[in-house]
Amino acid sequence: MKKLKVAVIGAGIYGIHHVDVYKQNPFVDLVAVCDFSPDIRKKVEEKYEVKTYSTVEEMLANEEMNAVSVATPDHLHVEPAITCINQGLDVLIEKPLATTVKDCESILEAAKKNKVRVAVDFHKRWDPAAIYTFNQLNESETDYPIRGYMNMDDMIDVPTKWFKWGNASDPIDFLGVHCVDLMRWYMGCEVTEVYSVGSKKLLPSLGVDTYDSVQSIITFENGCTWVLENSWVLPSGFAKANDSRTAILTSEKYIRINNQDRGVEMVDSEKTHTPNVFFFNDFNNRVVGFGADPINSFIDSLIDGSDFVADVYDGLQAAKVTEAIHKSLETAERVKL
Ligand SMILES: NC(=O)c1ccc[n+]([C@@H]2O[C@H](COP(=O)([O-])OP(=O)(O)OC[C@H]3O[C@@H](n4cnc5c(N)ncnc54)[C@H](O)[C@@H]3O)[C@@H](O)[C@H]2O)c1
Repeated sequence: MKKLKVAVIGAGIYGIHHVDVYKQNPFVDLVAVCDFSPDIRKKVEEKYEVKTYSTVEEMLANEEMNAVSVATPDHLHVEPAITCINQGLDVLIEKPLATTVKDCESILEAAKKNKVRVAVDFHKRWDPAAIYTFNQLNESETDYPIRGYMNMDDMIDVPTKWFKWGNASDPIDFLGVHCVDLMRWYMGCEVTEVYSVGSKKLLPSLGVDTYDSVQSIITFENGCTWVLENSWVLPSGFAKANDSRTAILTSEKYIRINNQDRGVEMVDSEKTHTPNVFFFNDFNNRVVGFGADPINSFIDSLIDGSDFVADVYDGLQAAKVTEAIHKSLETAERVKL
């Protein structure tokens, strides 16, 4: 069986999941991992017995490959992605595709020029609750959406302790982009207007100069309006690293999702945890769950030529909305798209 040769760029908190999934995918030969950090490179070499490199250029000069995953920090996707695209490689890019519309367009143009395929890891589309909701919304010819609510919040440890680049991102680029992508997918049309307000107080006081919380009203072409809330300051004592709820009212249905409650509680000496057991789980020496699914799906699409579930165009459209949210925050005005 011919395997696809794949590499991962950025093997930090999330990129290591790409390494895990590729290592276990029978159609993939994981040829290399690239990360600036010597500690990460050492750990990856020991655990996965795979060659590592400190720069993309060095990796590309020394290895043959068909595709790469880019899992560098939000604001640092564009450079390694375009370098690989210019080498003719297909690319899976972590969300957000990039943090500006201009950077997303550069990735799109480079992909067109080099005739390569670019997917975006909007993994929430693989969440069973989201799939159920999507199917419900598309079940009836006569049903139409009236209003929606979605929040996605992280505990304060994420921007202050998990990574060092909190200043360069915010709850919109890190979390809101997931929500915008889900809303576009649910609605099957584009956003026409956003209005946003936000607060910057707690995180700046802790040395992370970014928004604590942003609230937006988002209008879609079909007339449905959504309230979106994203925050990076949930208390550390919260039962899970993040919290997310959705409520959609349509002409025929009322659908509510509480992602905080995935049916499992685990109590230890510190607190009660409510793990998202559908996201990543180890079973029979394999990583399973909706975190792993889009990475395997990227490989499936490269092999059978099927469309990506979320591609570079979805990444660009989501970035247009997140950029409009930022503009609305700056100007305190409604922004039309
Ligand atoms: N942490 C999460 O829960 C999570 C969840 C979903 C998606 N993501 C996305 O995954 C991406 C990575 O996030 P993370 O939390 O893993 O960050 P991280 O800081 O833990 O890891 C990023 C890694 O990229 C490396 N890096 C940066 N630029 C590089 C380059 N040019 N070449 C090689 N290595 C480079 C860094 O050394 C670092 O190890 C982000 O876009 C984020 O939005 C993260």
